[in-house]
Amino acid sequence: AAPIPSVCGIPLKYVSLVTLAVQNSMLTIIMHYSRVSTPSSRMYSAATAVLMNEVLKGSISLFIAFCRIDSGCASDSRPTRVFTNKLSKLSRDVFGADAWKLSIPAMLYGLYQNNLQYVAASNLPAATFQVSYQMKILTTAAFSVLMLRKKLTSLQWVSLLALAIGVGIVQIQSGVATHHGSSSELSVMNASKGFLAVVAACFTSGLAGVYFEMVLKNSQADLWVRNVQLSLFSLLPCVAHIIFSNSASHAPSTFSASWFSSLFSNFGLWAWATVLVQVLGGLVTAMVIKYSDNILKGFATSLSIVISFLASVALFDFRMTWPFIIGSAVVLNATWMYNQHPQRVRIVTGRDLKI
Ligand code: C5P
Repeated sequence: AAPIPSVCGIPLKYVSLVTLAVQNSMLTIIMHYSRVSTPSSRMYSAATAVLMNEVLKGSISLFIAFCRIDSGCASDSRPTRVFTNKLSKLSRDVFGADAWKLSIPAMLYGLYQNNLQYVAASNLPAATFQVSYQMKILTTAAFSVLMLRKKLTSLQWVSLLALAIGVGIVQIQSGVATHHGSSSELSVMNASKGFLAVVAACFTSGLAGVYFEMVLKNSQADLWVRNVQLSLFSLLPCVAHIIFSNSASHAPSTFSASWFSSLFSNFGLWAWATVLVQVLGGLVTAMVIKYSDNILKGFATSLSIVISFLASVALFDFRMTWPFIIGSAVVLNATWMYNQHPQRVRIVTGRDLKI
């Protein structure tokens, strides 16, 4: 049997799950801070941030894929020969016949990251966003049942219902905060807009995650090659969004040096921090999907609620209310219950699914 990949003796599965939990809390806090603490006249472009995320993530994945690929020239170890062999093998893999499959999650992630996530983070308190976004466990489960033919126990269905109720209770807190909040931060937020964005993001996230899992586990292709393909396809919606977005309309209409510099106007330390944490999240998410599955990924992110809640209290003067405490407890309990009897996922073949 192949050795289980590990870091310092700890299976990669657990390392990636814990890293994802910490990364998720950091992203919620940093993204919220970077958007809400900046006056709208000096706001950095979310479209540029998403583009940078894809460029960096794709480049890192390309580098790892290049290092991992076997040159296939054991008899001739001249560096130039090894380099060109690796390069041609890698380009054959990246532009292989089934590369198009990654266009579907790429478009879904593109839609979610270009718009929904930033709208939600800008219109909801950080912890509320984090808890409401747990509804993606529900959509992920639904898509896993439909696409991976996963079977859920009745306890798991009950816990999914509890999850929806818990998120609803947390929303009471969000409404109270938005209507009665007096700080300048709360006055620029729109809870219903933020909540609608979260619901839509749950659908795109669930579908994209399960689709990526299906493509990954149905083929022998390397994870990092799949990541490069995903990033390449993601560049299309990113660039289209930049060209058509409102922020670009303030910029010169031609592709000049000033057009490029306008893309990065107000792109300060916090914007770069948001991008870097997102890059880390993308890479770790792919590893979690590969070494565990989308359901365990949900468990890791619900753990991050606790971390980001505690940080929100300290950093943003987030006030604890009973609806928030009860709602969060129900959400965490539901997640725990859901993971009590994990079912084996039966990965169906491409022939069954006709993908
Ligand atoms: O919110 P959610 O858990 O769906 O976010 C997953 C994140 O992981 C998205 O930002 C997506 O772009 C990223 N991802 C990635 N590479 C993958 C799978 C997901 O960058 N192979």
